[in-house]
Amino acid sequence: MNTLLFLAALHMTLQPFITSYDDVAFTRVGAVLHNSVKIQARYPALANSTATVRYRSAAIPNASWKDGPTLAFAEENDFVAVATLKGLYPSSSYEYLLADANNTVLPYPAEPIVFRTFPDHRLVSGSRFKFLVSSCATPNFPYSPLGGNRIEGYDYLAKHLWPASKGKKAAPKPVETEAPAPEVPEQPKAATTPVTPEVIPVAAAATPESESATTPSEPETIPPTGPTSSAASSVVESDPLPTPSNDVPTEFLLFLGDFIYADVPMGRTTKEWYQRLYRRVFASSSFRKVYERLPVFTIYDDHEFKDNYAGGGADHFVEPYTNASGAYGAYLGDVNYDNYKGENYYDFRHGDVAFFVMDTRRYRTDLSIPVAEDAQVQPTMLGDKQLAALYNWLGRVNSTASWKFVVSSVPLSNLWGADAKRDAWGAFPAERDALIEVLAHVPNVVVLSGDRHQFAAVDFLGGSFLEISTSPLSMFDVPWPLHISNLKRESDELFNHTQSVTLENAQGGIDVLEPTTITMPKERLMKHIPGGNYKVTSIEVDTVDSTHPKLYIEVLINGKVKHKFTANGKPVKMSTTQALGRQLTQGFKDLLGIVRIKPKSWF
Ligand SMILES: *[C@@H]1O[C@H](CO)[C@@H](O)[C@H](O)[C@H]1NC(C)=O
Ligand SMILES: *[C@@H]1O[C@H](CO)[C@@H](O)[C@H](O)[C@H]1NC(C)=O
Ligand SMILES: *[C@@H]1O[C@H](CO)[C@@H](O)[C@H](O)[C@H]1NC(C)=O
Ligand SMILES: *[C@@H]1O[C@H](CO)[C@@H](O)[C@H](O)[C@H]1NC(C)=O
Ligand SMILES: *[C@@H]1O[C@H](CO)[C@@H](O)[C@H](O)[C@H]1NC(C)=O
Ligand SMILES: *[C@@H]1O[C@H](CO)[C@@H](O)[C@H](O)[C@H]1NC(C)=O
Repeated sequence: MNTLLFLAALHMTLQPFITSYDDVAFTRVGAVLHNSVKIQARYPALANSTATVRYRSAAIPNASWKDGPTLAFAEENDFVAVATLKGLYPSSSYEYLLADANNTVLPYPAEPIVFRTFPDHRLVSGSRFKFLVSSCATPNFPYSPLGGNRIEGYDYLAKHLWPASKGKKAAPKPVETEAPAPEVPEQPKAATTPVTPEVIPVAAAATPESESATTPSEPETIPPTGPTSSAASSVVESDPLPTPSNDVPTEFLLFLGDFIYADVPMGRTTKEWYQRLYRRVFASSSFRKVYERLPVFTIYDDHEFKDNYAGGGADHFVEPYTNASGAYGAYLGDVNYDNYKGENYYDFRHGDVAFFVMDTRRYRTDLSIPVAEDAQVQPTMLGDKQLAALYNWLGRVNSTASWKFVVSSVPLSNLWGADAKRDAWGAFPAERDALIEVLAHVPNVVVLSGDRHQFAAVDFLGGSFLEISTSPLSMFDVPWPLHISNLKRESDELFNHTQSVTLENAQGGIDVLEPTTITMPKERLMKHIPGGNYKVTSIEVDTVDSTHPKLYIEVLINGKVKHKFTANGKPVKMSTTQALGRQLTQGFKDLLGIVRIKPKSWF
């Protein structure tokens, strides 16, 4: 028995040493805008040669194929290439194939890859779409001798998104291939209303949870707009009933790091080693099912380098930065959005919803290096330049986006103890406190994170904003209750919350009472799901009724909806198109002055 266990462990450890996955070919869509997409491909058989992206509308029957950009497969990039396909229409479906230098269509992909452009964010209109968020995945975990390169979390995800492809009865059609409006079969009221993903008549915007036949219980609501949700019972009961997926399209997956485990259980720091581990994940048929149909946007965390990695700053990088980030760039980073030149952080929009994805590793101060007592430099998580970019973005999206997702590989919350105290935002208290203060002044912020191998939803400052931390997508879980997980229900830090209470009087009018101040914990745990090797959160954005922007949030564990809740936003008075390019408003600058933030550069 011991020998068998030993051999199994040895096999798991050695797997990436034994197989190099040199021949893996793949293609997928990365950054999606309203008029362009990035396309990535790896084609080792075309070493030192090129392929052309051949594309056409997927909505018009038998549209003619057009030649798009060229992909050049060079050894220095491990035969991975990225090209931008431009000149597309917003909210439109396209498909593409690859052709070689002789204009012959290549055998892979055998079927055209279908994608859909995002809506035009310059038009101020509501949206309704879903996206997914998770982090941490590794092949063949838990280990099985015949598991090969399976990544079960992606298998569950593919099955959840496209049940039809598994041959299930009465499954809804995969929505991402649809140019015409999908119908909403489980909502008779809506069935006669043509529903497009971007513009949905308000009447059809019923809450999917409450109409679902298999889900009799009402979803809970966490209003991030006020402390009215009872402060007392912060941990809420889970709803174990599965929900069938409806026809609101899932537009992308945000993968927040630990895409490879370069150092677990053991590893190297050569360029070839990192490349090999990325090839291994892309070779997995489990992941292939997802990336061939769904754009995946990523950011690295520590295990793309090594455990609890800190890059150390703008002027020098702690190795293995060069090798690790080089391989990350070729396989993941280069196909993300690239609005900050030479940086791994990025922002993007989907219609009236905005995202900022942080790089919490490259500029992070290495706290294990002792600093001189008279040192002038404050430890930092993001570095000056990235902080400036983040605050600049917050200033811009404050009145041009209904929901603002601030995305961090490690949790902003300080409720986790132990290792998180060193590796998450809590290790950088000054930068964290200032950021929390600013986020509290921007309506409808949600922080998304991963890394802890648990699910948690945390309320900040009495309903000012919410953090949702989800992991692992396919890795070990930490299935322990609160006290063993070292996770607190409430922060020790308190704050004074002032609220004005309004009451409806007998005449049907509104009485405004004197504002009251209550002292409460800065952070409160709303929900904790520690167990589950395969976790992903699906967030449905619904801003169709601009006076009631909403999020329907579902936590999927092992492919089943384990918990769901709704977050209600505040109405945001949107500025017009021109405001998008406008400089920071004075109000925002004043706020940064109050919390004593003076980033060196505003660019
Ligand atoms: C590709 O080009 C490089 C550099 O010119 C060369 O070393 C390599 O052998 C070439 N590979 C193939 C497969 O032709
Ligand atoms: C599309 O082309 C195929 C093959 O040329 C043909 O059989 C089919 O009838 C065409 N469909 C339409 C809608 O034109
Ligand atoms: C293109 O055709 C030429 C001539 O037949 C051949 O030598 C070459 O290998 C072909 N290239 C590719 C990429 O198939
Ligand atoms: C980076 O990779 C190169 C090529 O394999 C290797 O020679 C070098 O030692 C690596 N650097 C580190 C810091 O491991
Ligand atoms: C809250 O207000 C009280 C009374 O003004 C003050 O004593 C206390 O220090 C404040 N607490 C915090 C956390 O600001
Ligand atoms: C953000 O916009 C809201 C209006 O939606 C406004 O009340 C608030 O003051 C703005 N915040 C900042 C920091 O400018």
